[in-house]
Amino acid sequence: MSIRIPDVVGSIVEAALSPHPVDRYLELIDPMLTWRDLRAKVVDVHRPTDRTVRLTLRPTRQWQGHSAGQYVQLSTVINGVRHTRCFSPANAATSADGDLELTITAHDDGFVSRHLRDTARPGMVLGLGQAAGEFTLPDTRPRAAVFISGGSGVTPVLSMMRTLVAEGYPGAITFVHYARDPEDVAYRTELAALADRYPTIDLRLHYTRGDTPDHFAPAHLADIPGFDDAELFVCGPPALMRAVEQYYDEHDLHQPFHSEAFTLAAPIAIDPDAPIDGELVFSRSGRSAANDGRTILDQAESAGLRPESGCRMGICFSCTAIKKSGCTRNVLTGETDTESDTQIQLCINAPVGDVEIEV
Ligand SMILES: Cc1cc2nc3c(=O)[nH]c(=O)nc-3n(C[C@H](O)[C@H](O)[C@H](O)COP(=O)(O)OP(=O)(O)OC[C@H]3O[C@@H](n4cnc5c(N)ncnc54)[C@H](O)[C@@H]3O)c2cc1C
Ligand code: FES
Repeated sequence: MSIRIPDVVGSIVEAALSPHPVDRYLELIDPMLTWRDLRAKVVDVHRPTDRTVRLTLRPTRQWQGHSAGQYVQLSTVINGVRHTRCFSPANAATSADGDLELTITAHDDGFVSRHLRDTARPGMVLGLGQAAGEFTLPDTRPRAAVFISGGSGVTPVLSMMRTLVAEGYPGAITFVHYARDPEDVAYRTELAALADRYPTIDLRLHYTRGDTPDHFAPAHLADIPGFDDAELFVCGPPALMRAVEQYYDEHDLHQPFHSEAFTLAAPIAIDPDAPIDGELVFSRSGRSAANDGRTILDQAESAGLRPESGCRMGICFSCTAIKKSGCTRNVLTGETDTESDTQIQLCINAPVGDVEIEV
């Protein structure tokens, strides 16, 4: 759904336009005064590296807190259109009255990340979703923990390490982080301070650019004392994730391996073996399109529609809509589904023949 902001309101409400009618009126008075919607005010902005912006967010009363490692959906309005992306709080687990710390890395061609890096300022109000996600610390804390992150993937694992530290965790923590160079480590000061203060923390920074690029190598984990008892937590770019997974498989490791990807290893491609035919009908908006084989989300956007979306990789469920009829194929698993009146995720399902979807 595309929501246009009236000009008079646009300057006041940066990002929080909501579909809820009561909140539409309340935001005219104060965008942080909401009946139902969860929003957050930016109370502090810091740009620790050229590519990153760190936001301290104060959520409205609906906020329920987060567990270390979870992510939130953040919405901002750019040129009158609301855009949503997922970000993982980097602060220790919070209760309902806690602020959130997000660190956003601007990608060269990244639409929302660059916008926030360039324009975020205190007082800005952003749309927020409740924390979600399974990439969390186990309730029974591990005997030791090894965190491995690359680039922006530092945020959820830093939240986990900060949470363990706040709890007085007695186990050994190894924190292995990959960045382009020292200037590109968004949490260099904080990580060094933690490692200085707590002898249980072994901080290992590796730099992947420069004269001697230091990408993931088995030697980076081989000398960790008590490694076999440690649970692994990995978040980073696809190449790092693949390398660590390969190490885990090849060394026949058995300790729990927790991982989260911020982006798909490869863009979702059209299945060359699937017949591409039929019509895609968007029943709520009264539009339709000849099926071109791409995901329903891509085809809806090409048809001029703006369904809700966030991660675009099947994680956040914000793009869920009701399929009224027809057959769809999950592009990640290849499974087909012919059930009618069922909820599907638009970003990872493509039509197989005629499909009617409530968008
Ligand atoms: C669960 C989860 C948690 C996340 N937490 C964080 C976080 O804490 N901090 C953070 O900075 N980002 C995080 N992300 C990534 C974030 O949601 C966006 O994907 C990212 O900011 C890019 O959005 P964009 O609008 O700038 O790029 P888009 O305009 O959507 O994409 C532009 C280009 O960048 C590529 N791209 C998108 N994301 C990445 C990526 N992560 N790495 C490399 N290329 C990418 C796309 O393939 C595309 O080619 C998280 C993602 C997920 C799914
Ligand atoms: S956009 Fe996140 S599941 Fe589809």
